[in-house]
Order: sequence, then C-alpha cells, then structure tokens
Amino acid sequence: MPVLPAAVYCMSSTSRSSRTGRVSAGIADTIRHRGCLGSLGYYAKAIFQLLRDLTPERRRSRYGDIDYDFDHGVDTTWSNVSLGTRLRELASGAQYQASEPELFHRILHALPVQPDEFTFVDLGSGKGRTLLMASDYPFHRIVGIELLAELNQIARKNIRAYFSERQRCFKIESSAGDARDFQFPQESLVLYLFNPFPDYVLRTVLTNLRRSFQADPREVYIIYHNLVHEDLFLSQSWLKQLHHTHQFAIYRADDE
Ligand SMILES: C[S@@+](CC[C@H](N)C(=O)[O-])C[C@H]1O[C@@H](n2cnc3c(N)ncnc32)[C@H](O)[C@@H]1O
Repeated sequence: MPVLPAAVYCMSSTSRSSRTGRVSAGIADTIRHRGCLGSLGYYAKAIFQLLRDLTPERRRSRYGDIDYDFDHGVDTTWSNVSLGTRLRELASGAQYQASEPELFHRILHALPVQPDEFTFVDLGSGKGRTLLMASDYPFHRIVGIELLAELNQIARKNIRAYFSERQRCFKIESSAGDARDFQFPQESLVLYLFNPFPDYVLRTVLTNLRRSFQADPREVYIIYHNLVHEDLFLSQSWLKQLHHTHQFAIYRADDE
C-alpha cells in the first residue's frame, strides 16, 4: 500500500471532517427552518429527484450543457458532478447547475451599468461558469463564493484554464464558504444569484446586504435568475425592481 505523507493524511481527514460538519450543519439548518415534517417532505422529494437524475435518459440530457466547456477548455457542466457532491448539495438545500451562456449575456446586456466601475459577485458560484462569462466584460474585478469546497476547487482550476479571446477582466477569485458569512466588499457591486439558496438563507443574505448598504451607501445591483423566491425581493422596500422577465429580475438598492 503506498504511503502518503503525513500532511496529505492530515489534509484529507480535515477536509472530510469539515465536509461532514457542513452536511450536519445543513441538515440541522433544514430541520430548524422547515420543521420535522417539512424536512421529511423536503428530503423525500430531493432523494426522488436525485434517483430520477440517475436514470440513463436524464444522465444523457445532463450533457446538454457541455458545449461551453469544449469551447473554453474548462469543466463547468453539471453532468459529471459526483454522487457524493449531489448528496452534500441535498443537505445544503441547493443543487449545482450552471447558468446558460446565451441567457447570461442577455441578462448582462439588460444591466444599466458600466462594468469597469463595478465588482461582479456570484453568490453560490459552483464551478465558476458565471465568473468566466463575466470576465468577458471589463468588470473592475470578479468574486465567487461557493459553499461546497470541491466545486470551488474546480472553479479555481477553471479560472486558470479559461480560454477566451473576448476576456477583458483577469482579476477573478473564487472562495469556499457560506454566503451568509460573506463580507460584501465596500465597492460598487453587481450581485448575481442563480437561485442558489433556500428562502431562509436568502433572507439572511439580504439582511446582511442591507446592513452593508446602510453602513456604506453605494451602487448595488442584484440580478436574481430563476425567480423561485421572488416574493422575498419584492417585500424589501429598499430594493427597487428595474427589470423583470419570467426568467430573471434586476433590482437596485435604494435609500429608503
Ligand atoms: C444553481 S447553482 C448556480 C451556479 C452558478 N452561480 C451559475 O450560475 O453557474 C447554485 C450554487 O449555490 C451553491 N450554494 C448553496 N447554498 C450556498 C450557500 N449557503 N453559500 C454559498 N453557496 C451556496 C450550491 O452549492 C450551488 O453550487
């Protein structure tokens, strides 16, 4: 049996225990916010969906998003996400799926800003496809935050490997962490959320953002893609809706 250096054992057991810790924290969170019956219903539905995704037909259809990866020499498809990662996603209440390029560019064209004055932040950035697509615009810098460490590692590789003749921004970072702990930079911001969280996480993220905006009023735009919890945005009197389609909405933070 090959002998691994102590540091490697150490790293793998640490990352395993932090993964286990995250899974139990995710489950505890789900029970706290959905209650016991609600959590049972949620996990039953999620497990059903997960099993359905393993059928040959669904597996084939998952490769529908792979063209982007061939074009740019990266790995952003959801088709090869491992079962272990899928199970950890289930605990956190959100599943990785990459934004579709054509729609992403349509969304950015609807944004009434000059990118070079803004930092683009993707909350729940997965394997980082949006970070790469945003780098084709001259943003001041680009930041991603992703709950699952294994997806963040892939995002970092993708940032190094990305090839595009249209790339305009080269300051791109991706970090692993919970969006609820994210410190919003004191810069003009374009925030991107592709339905990344359950409502109770989104509520905390919006509360943190509001505090950050009140402490340091600046230009803040939020793109919400896939409007599952749109009601939460509409109930925020400090957010003004600027644009709305059935696929996405754009909000601006305003003084109340
Ligand atoms: C639908 S995917 C979107 C991926 C990427 N933003 C895109 O558009 O291509 C949502 C991502 O949010 C991540 N996520 C879920 N809860 C999170 C949290 N509390 N903090 C950070 N990321 C989270 C999931 O792991 C998943 O990768």
